[in-house]
Amino acid sequence: MTQLPKYLSIFSPSTASERKDNFDIYWNFTQEHSGELLEQEQSLSKKKAKLDSFQSQPVQLRQPFQNPDAFYRNYVQLQDAAKTLDRKTLLLTCIYKFARHEWVGITGAWAATPDMANSRHVTDKISRYHLAEEFSHIRLFHEMFLTFRLDQVEWVPLSFTLRKVYELFPKLPEDLMSPFAFVTELMGIMFYRRVDALLDEVFADEPEAAARLRELLNEITIDELAHIGQRRNYLGAMGLKLSQWMTPALFRMFFHDIPETALLFDLELMIQEALVFDYSEIPAPLMRKTWIPSYCIAPA
Ligand SMILES: [Fe+2]
Ligand SMILES: [Fe+2]
Repeated sequence: MTQLPKYLSIFSPSTASERKDNFDIYWNFTQEHSGELLEQEQSLSKKKAKLDSFQSQPVQLRQPFQNPDAFYRNYVQLQDAAKTLDRKTLLLTCIYKFARHEWVGITGAWAATPDMANSRHVTDKISRYHLAEEFSHIRLFHEMFLTFRLDQVEWVPLSFTLRKVYELFPKLPEDLMSPFAFVTELMGIMFYRRVDALLDEVFADEPEAAARLRELLNEITIDELAHIGQRRNYLGAMGLKLSQWMTPALFRMFFHDIPETALLFDLELMIQEALVFDYSEIPAPLMRKTWIPSYCIAPA
């Protein structure tokens, strides 16, 4: 098996010409990785095939989910005190709330970006693929809930104000939007790695379901690892500084809206890990399938 390279910080410097080359390389990668764009379905051929293969081999729970009422009562908005919920419910409602923000964000962005027929630049095409991958993630998240026989989950819009914030986001000037977009991708990876670290403990009595949840999560994580590199590729020196500066505040603000986080994760540690992120903690099987910018790889 080929040796993996040594990685450098995601905040490593790069030149404008390196970034231009990396966009071209990424564009080839993403087409090969995800297949053909299915614009009407907000999907991609390979993503669709992968979801079909999960659905054709459903995992059976050993025991029915203990208390579905507690999940349904709290998944959109916490109604009970978070500390009264069992850890399975807490983790699943937390995953839903994170994914719900993603869903609202990409729904606003999809409407604001040109479709493939009207994409002039390679970055426009990359954005369209990126969003279709994100929609595929929501289907994978939905599959996680189905794995636990939570088949009544609905994707509920956020408040009017938050929806407007997400709709404005893609219209921000590029210099401001790019650092925000990059940090939100970084936040995704930090969150998914934390969820992965909890699966075996929280679902210890449901090892098959935990393994399926990890498979679904890995599919998402491979894409998200590529996304952080891709979004990083928009940033020059100033954008990088701005991203580092906004990381702690953006993490705290975002997770403040998901009270489960405080009981499941160490948010301050996640922030520290984000600031020193260099791919070295990511398992090799995921690294082999994803993409990273050339300037995040140490010279041999
Ligand atoms: Fe995502
Ligand atoms: Fe992403």
